[in-house]
Amino acid sequence: GGATAGSAAPLFSKLPAKIQKAGVIKVGTDATYAPMEFKEGANIVGVDPDVAAAMGKQLGVKFEFTSGTFDTLLGALPTGRTDIVMSSMTDTKARQEGLDDKGKKTGTGVDFVDYFSASTGILVKKGNPQGIKSLDDLCGKKLAVQRGTTYEQAAKDQSAKCEKDGKAKIAIEAFPTDAEAQTRVKAGGAVADLNDSPVAAYIAKTAGGGNDFEAIANKSDAGLFGIAVDKKNTELRDALKAALDAIIKDGTYKAALDKWGAG
Ligand code: ARG
Repeated sequence: GGATAGSAAPLFSKLPAKIQKAGVIKVGTDATYAPMEFKEGANIVGVDPDVAAAMGKQLGVKFEFTSGTFDTLLGALPTGRTDIVMSSMTDTKARQEGLDDKGKKTGTGVDFVDYFSASTGILVKKGNPQGIKSLDDLCGKKLAVQRGTTYEQAAKDQSAKCEKDGKAKIAIEAFPTDAEAQTRVKAGGAVADLNDSPVAAYIAKTAGGGNDFEAIANKSDAGLFGIAVDKKNTELRDALKAALDAIIKDGTYKAALDKWGAG
């Protein structure tokens, strides 16, 4: 708290010269994921923009969010089109190493600054007509997920487990955004959408005045969201880490989460 903008900010000197000069950190996100990042009119709002804004006070620069399709976000880092990705992105070994879901090298890889913990959310229709309680209950059913997410992979892994257990596999449909997967569930074209627990909880509470969905939390599998930075950009990574530590210490991190009910 109380930090000054610009070069007088406590952690400004930690930033790479290029960012100091630009005065902004360009952030790639998929702003269709309330309450983490979503559009309110022309503005991108939510937990991630608020956490970033708090870090920005420590660093003396602005975080400028632009929205793009989730599975294209990391590809913009090596080109410098964006400096970081902050999009509720789970910190995985595959992403660190630049591997796709088949283990093929498709990117240069990233470093993550972890900032949030979430578990799997299972979003079903209000009243849970199919009685889904866990991932095992999805065998033989239709499932909607967002493309390129850890949940697309989790759906595939669960389907393989279903078959191994002698049950029918899962019919997985992957959409460019999670919002589209939610719509599919609402329309009855899928029994569930797998996403992150704060998102499932928020959608269940808000969509259709709280009458459209129900969220089932799968508490056993928490993962960490990380801010992704190109592997070569270690100076920026370390500055972000220092800023995150500072806002956790001064309470502005917690305030950002609490504001969206994600604390
Ligand atoms: N945490 C999941 C992942 O990393 C889903 C994130 C989706 N984020 C978004 N803004 N739509 O794959």
